[in-house]
Amino acid sequence: MLTVRPAVAEDVTDIVALWRVCGLVVSYNDPEADFRFAKAGACSDVLVAVDEAGGIVGSVMVGHDGHRGWIYYLAAHPAWRGHGVGRRMVRVAEDWLLDRGVAKLQLLVRDTNTKVVGFYEHLGFEVAPRVAMSKWLIKDQ
Ligand SMILES: CC(C)(COP(=O)(O)OP(=O)(O)OC[C@H]1O[C@@H](n2cnc3c(N)ncnc32)[C@H](O)[C@@H]1OP(=O)(O)O)[C@@H](O)C(=O)NCCC(=O)NCCS
Repeated sequence: MLTVRPAVAEDVTDIVALWRVCGLVVSYNDPEADFRFAKAGACSDVLVAVDEAGGIVGSVMVGHDGHRGWIYYLAAHPAWRGHGVGRRMVRVAEDWLLDRGVAKLQLLVRDTNTKVVGFYEHLGFEVAPRVAMSKWLIKDQ
């Protein structure tokens, strides 16, 4: 049995450990800062799935920019893969966005992680023919 709830500040160590074991932490991101920034935002949150022992086994960062919804840091602990954690975290992110009137959910998949595309397609996502562009506004983040 899993419970889904918004993360709290005290979860940061366990959440970052989950993100690391799931291969979601890269050199150019500070996961602790990412967590705190999302939690502090009026239009963003981090949601977690917690097992009966209180361990964090799933996560999703969700937010919107006033137009589209986005998810990041979708994670299911390796020991829990294939048990619906990922599906559930996508669903709670969708509900979070629907509650705020956001019509469309988008996400980015790193080109080193394309094996996850089939998962998203299975959940109803489509690969969108877009060129994603980005620019660092603050360096060393
Ligand atoms: C992606 C991830 C969150 C999936 O979590 P999970 O809990 O194993 O997935 P679920 O058990 O909820 O799977 C949901 C459904 O997708 C299907 N599925 C899973 N991976 C799939 C794949 N690669 N291709 C097609 N279908 C897939 C499952 O069979 C399941 O189908 P069903 O619900 O109809 O029976 C997990 O593998 C993970 O944490 N990966 C590392 C982090 C990552 O890459 N995150 C995404 C960053 S963009």
